[in-house]
Amino acid sequence: MRVRVLFVCLGNICRSPMAEAVFQHMVDEAGLSEQITVDSAGTGSWHVGEKAHPGTRRVLAAHGITYNGRARQVTAADMADDHTYIIAMDQSNLNDLQRTWGDHPRLYRLLDFASQAEVRDVPDPYYTGNFEYVYQLVEDGCRGLLAHIIQAEGLRTSSH
Ligand code: 4NP
Repeated sequence: MRVRVLFVCLGNICRSPMAEAVFQHMVDEAGLSEQITVDSAGTGSWHVGEKAHPGTRRVLAAHGITYNGRARQVTAADMADDHTYIIAMDQSNLNDLQRTWGDHPRLYRLLDFASQAEVRDVPDPYYTGNFEYVYQLVEDGCRGLLAHIIQAEGLRTSSH
């Protein structure tokens, strides 16, 4: 069975596309791309169809990661699948998801999986402009999330 992971932020142009790209990169490196599907979406619809924010694309490129996704909004189908890991970037995203769709058995905040970060909400670089700091937090959270999923789902990694 494939594991599905959906990263969610407000606009789906800054934080959740960054998390999607970083996590996909880690999944590929672990040889798990056949077992884990990665996606992202926004709770809001303002930026649907747009490319990721230039700041997100720039910081990903600086870390050797390409990303070509386009923004989309969270759908009922996303939230109807109890097996999808829904990973919110901050408490406000999590509250918005719960308010609209109710409780979900695999709804988490990304930084609940982080081991280094001193914060639990990924700050929005759309307002702060600090994309590199956000990258460091996202990487920390994604590393912990992947370890969690590998263990919880009993996946076997292959090193390259
Ligand atoms: P994101 O950042 O949720 O990390 O994609 C934002 C992008 C756009 C807006 C807010 C946050 N906006 O209000 O348009």
